[in-house]
Amino acid sequence: MAQTVLEFREVVKRFGTVAAVDQVSFVIQSGEIFTLLGPSGCGKTTTLRLVAGLEEPDDGEILVNGIPVAAPRRNVFVAPDKRQMGMVFQSYAIWPHLNVFENVAFPLRVRRESAPAIKERVRNALETVGLAGLDDRGATALSGGQQQRVALARALVYAPSILLLDEPLSNLDAKLREQMRFEIRALQKKLQLTLLYVTHDQTEAMTLSDRIAVVNRGRFEQVGTPVEVYEKAATPFVAEFLGRTVLLEGSIISNHSGCWFELPNGAGRLLLEGQQWAGGLSARLFVRPEDIEILPFGEPSQHEVSATIEEVAYLGDRFEYSVSAGGKHFMLSAAKKNRYPAGSEVRLRFDPVRLNPRPVDHP
Ligand SMILES: Nc1ncnc2c1ncn2[C@@H]1O[C@H](COP(=O)(O)OP(=O)(O)OP(=O)(O)O)[C@@H](O)[C@H]1O
Ligand SMILES: [Mg+2]
Repeated sequence: MAQTVLEFREVVKRFGTVAAVDQVSFVIQSGEIFTLLGPSGCGKTTTLRLVAGLEEPDDGEILVNGIPVAAPRRNVFVAPDKRQMGMVFQSYAIWPHLNVFENVAFPLRVRRESAPAIKERVRNALETVGLAGLDDRGATALSGGQQQRVALARALVYAPSILLLDEPLSNLDAKLREQMRFEIRALQKKLQLTLLYVTHDQTEAMTLSDRIAVVNRGRFEQVGTPVEVYEKAATPFVAEFLGRTVLLEGSIISNHSGCWFELPNGAGRLLLEGQQWAGGLSARLFVRPEDIEILPFGEPSQHEVSATIEEVAYLGDRFEYSVSAGGKHFMLSAAKKNRYPAGSEVRLRFDPVRLNPRPVDHP
């Protein structure tokens, strides 16, 4: 049975006259990935800091596992080190003067754990994130992805009831970001973690989350599954913010040649490089239109599917095409060098690095 791990009741946090968090209420269940998605300055980091106890709310109540940790009207405030929270900050902030082991051990030392306990838990955490054996390495002598893993291990080391991740992937290049996203999801599943995740990248939110809160000026405009917020936007802001994402539905095929996302209606299949999903799953794929290229009709390669141009609009500097593929309709814009008239058959080429399916039966 899923249990409520975190609850916000009409929480308010003001900085001067600005309400960075404005009467926000929500609930997160155990094992859920809940994402705050919204533009810069909308209050995402402040919300996380309120959960961690790094900010005190001006009003409302915050409960963790049913117990109030912040309730100003009742004079309740539990200090950060008394809350079971692991946080990975926006700039993931590992300490350059400490080696990998000491970076991860830090939260345990603060909590005055015994030396043998620290040793064992740090080892476990490093193994979990795939850094076993790098204990003595200086933190700056690591790649971006490895530093990211150290920050994750540090957040995991004392088995947090909620893992708070503030744009944890924003410092990484596109390829590594995809990989880490995949690993976070695998880790979350394996350890049954509850994640409060912050991003302003809608594709990241779509592919990672069980539920998304779209945040605007300190308020939750809508909370729902990725498909709900995408297909049933509750407000114009949500529609606008999520507008430029292409949603495809299909199924996963796994065979000797690899793992594929197959579109219905014979539109073709896309190779999911380096990914392993069980075959037969229904899945959705969220892709940015700019990661899809329109190519002339021909035999599709492993990163291409067949599509039809339905309408064309000339916008001066480019064409805007209404395209259909695998039963879905969406808009793509393209440079003027090629022109595909309405009714033409084309291929769509997908950036292989951007293919992150989300199984539909995912809990
Ligand atoms: N310590 C502070 N003092 C005053 N104002 C603050 C403070 N921290 C945040 N704010 C303001 O609160 C609002 C919300 O900030 P917050 O950092 O939560 O935004 P964010 O959604 O995380 O943005 P970003 O995507 O840029 O990280 C902003 O208007 C910000 O300027
Ligand atoms: Mg922020």
